[in-house]
Order: sequence, then C-alpha cells, then structure tokens
Amino acid sequence: MSARVVRTVADLRTQVSSWREEGLKTAYVPTMGSLHEGHLSLVRLGLEKADRAALSIFVNPTQFAPHEDFDAYPRAEAADVRAAASAGAELIFAPNASEMYAEGFATSFEMKGPAEGLETDFRPHFFGGVALVVAKLLIQAGTDYAIFGEKDYQQLCVVKRLVKDLDIPTEIVGGPIVRDEEGLALSSRNAYLSPEELAVARTLNKTLFTAAADIAAEPARAEVRLGEGRAEIIRNGFNSLDYLELRQAGTLAPFTPGMKEGRLLVAATIGRTRLIDNVAVEVG
Ligand code: PAF
Repeated sequence: MSARVVRTVADLRTQVSSWREEGLKTAYVPTMGSLHEGHLSLVRLGLEKADRAALSIFVNPTQFAPHEDFDAYPRAEAADVRAAASAGAELIFAPNASEMYAEGFATSFEMKGPAEGLETDFRPHFFGGVALVVAKLLIQAGTDYAIFGEKDYQQLCVVKRLVKDLDIPTEIVGGPIVRDEEGLALSSRNAYLSPEELAVARTLNKTLFTAAADIAAEPARAEVRLGEGRAEIIRNGFNSLDYLELRQAGTLAPFTPGMKEGRLLVAATIGRTRLIDNVAVEVG
C-alpha cells in the first residue's frame, strides 16, 4: 500500500473531509518522524477504531529548548512514509515549519495540572510547545481519533487535558508501550545509544518493573522503595537521574495513601541520551 504525502493544512483537511463525507472515520497519529515499531503499532491501533489512518511528521521546534537536540533529531522522511504506509496509513501530513508557524505567529500555551513536575522540572518549555503543536495538528486535521503512545505518559495525560479544556472534538486514545526483546521502551532517541550504553539502557525497565511490583505489594514502603530504585539506576551506570516518581494515574497528582491507580515514571540519562519510561502500579 502507498500513502499520499500532503504538505498543506488545506490538502490535509480536504482529504479527511472527503473521507468523512463517505461516512468513513479517521484516526490520526501525530509524530516527529524517525518511525519505529512503537509508532506503527499506534497506526494499527488507530485502524482498529477507524476506517482510515493518517500520520503527521513534524519535528516541532517549539518543544525543544535551544540546548536540546532539535538540529540533530533523526529525520528520515522517505523511509518514514514507506513504514507508515506498510502499517496502513494512507495519508501523511509533513508540513514545513512555515506552514505550521507562519511569520508573526504569536500564540503560546501554558499548561498546568498533569504538566506540573516530572518533565516540566527538567524541560520547562516542553509541554507549552507540545500543547501548542498538538492543538494545531488536531484542529487542522479534524479527525475522529488521535492516538498517542503511553511511552510519553505525561504527554498523553497533558493531551487528554488539553482536548477537554479546548473542546477539541477528537477522541484521544493511548497506545501501549512497545519494548525490545529486553524490555527497553522503543524510542527514536535509542538510535543515539552505543552498544555499551544500550546495555545500561536495558536495565531501566527492570528497575522500574521491580519497583512497581514491590510498591503494589507494600504501598506503605513506597518512599523507601523509590529511594532504593533511584540508587539502583545510578549503580547500573546511568550518568544522571531526573526522576523516579509515583503519581496518580491520569491526573498525575502526587500519589497519596488510599489511592489505587498509580503510575511510576522515570527519566534518566546515559551518555547523551535521555530515556523515559513508565509503568502502571495497581495498589491493593
Ligand atoms: O511525541 C511526539 O512525538 C511529539 O511530542 C508530538 C506529540 C508529535 C508533538 O510534536
């Protein structure tokens, strides 16, 4: 199967509207490209819900700080288009920066609620940029569904809040994390890892899963167990740990006694690669 690539909002809207006029529903997978199996699983999930799948490829400058990897971020459009088509996407929106941010662009977003803490403590610009571009992408496309990976769990919670707050009529669906054979969550940034770093990276999910199981079994020890997990991550060879934190699933409010549905989230750096991961914690 091949996919049609469009570069303007007008062409994107025309295609999605024509599917709607035929009575077909569309699922949309916003991405920054450099597609891997995790993204493709989101396309397939979209096609379980809808008749057509569209995917966007746009490395969004507003979610990168000046010192981050915007210029180095892997870009491989031709391969991405082939991969997306092989998963069943029929439409690819790949705009240039001026289509998304025309000269004189003057709008910015500030997110609170699920955007507070975690990533925001280390990347304060991040969710403003994500919220802005996701709002634009969803409003531009007007699809029935949009699919986001649970790997970026805080982002998924932020997007759900954003869509509710702005009354955007697109249903947000979370797709499960896809992992490699040793449990490492797939990420475009894994391409930066050397073989030695990859071995360290693959310990992260083990620390996360073990800590989550222990906390679920003995929630009263959660703080102590988190401390042990933090020490283990550094012992395993990570250069730095930004956070290993337990939050309430969905709202991402601090997890307090009596809460049942938790989410354990981690961000740690090995070499020049910052990895994030998370897992559900079901208490009692
Ligand atoms: O998760 C991503 O790839 C990006 O943050 C997103 C949602 C496509 C917005 O640029």
